[in-house]
Amino acid sequence: MAVGIYFATTTGKTEDIAERLHGILGKANPPKDLTDVSDPNEFKELDGIICGIPTWNTGADSERSGTAWDEMLETIGQMDLAGKKVAIFGLGDSSTYTENFCDAMEELHSYFKKAGATMVGYVSKESYTFEESKSVIGDQFCGLPLDEDSESDLTDTRLTNWAEDLKEQIPSLK
Ligand SMILES: Cc1cc2nc3c(=O)[nH]c(=O)nc-3n(C[C@H](O)[C@H](O)[C@H](O)COP(=O)(O)O)c2cc1C
Repeated sequence: MAVGIYFATTTGKTEDIAERLHGILGKANPPKDLTDVSDPNEFKELDGIICGIPTWNTGADSERSGTAWDEMLETIGQMDLAGKKVAIFGLGDSSTYTENFCDAMEELHSYFKKAGATMVGYVSKESYTFEESKSVIGDQFCGLPLDEDSESDLTDTRLTNWAEDLKEQIPSLK
């Protein structure tokens, strides 16, 4: 069983992070653009799924990403992904969009949860500066938020620490 990395992007930043994460993790499959996924049943072949999603539709309750993830949400929610470990990273801008920072992560999180997946890769909100985010659950983000627009100098450390967490939480990454 393997771990897949899937991303969707509008200006390429989420793809770039997916490539960097792949390099750090070593053992995951090469990142795949969601627009190249014709049948989401391929998720069932994996035991870990790492998803990258940017936020674009500011303030929207649904379809917050403005990417191919939006069209796949309902399908994911109807799948049986019990036993799969799923982790999410999100791209956003905590300065310009401080009231909607990385909102799209939570939408993806809720549909994978609905599919019965075990959600991993939660991150403390401590080291982030923002007003609001739909992706905060309790004291944590439901994934890894990254800000290549205003805090790109922090990305390396955030990504490396997260990769270490994922290696603990997704056995086939060891
Ligand atoms: C029109 C527009 C709307 C955006 N809305 C949000 C938002 O609501 N929340 C947020 O955190 N970032 C928002 N962003 C920032 C993007 O999510 C950020 O630039 C991200 O890195 C883009 O990723 P991509 O290149 O993979 O598409 C927005 C950017 C633009 C240009």
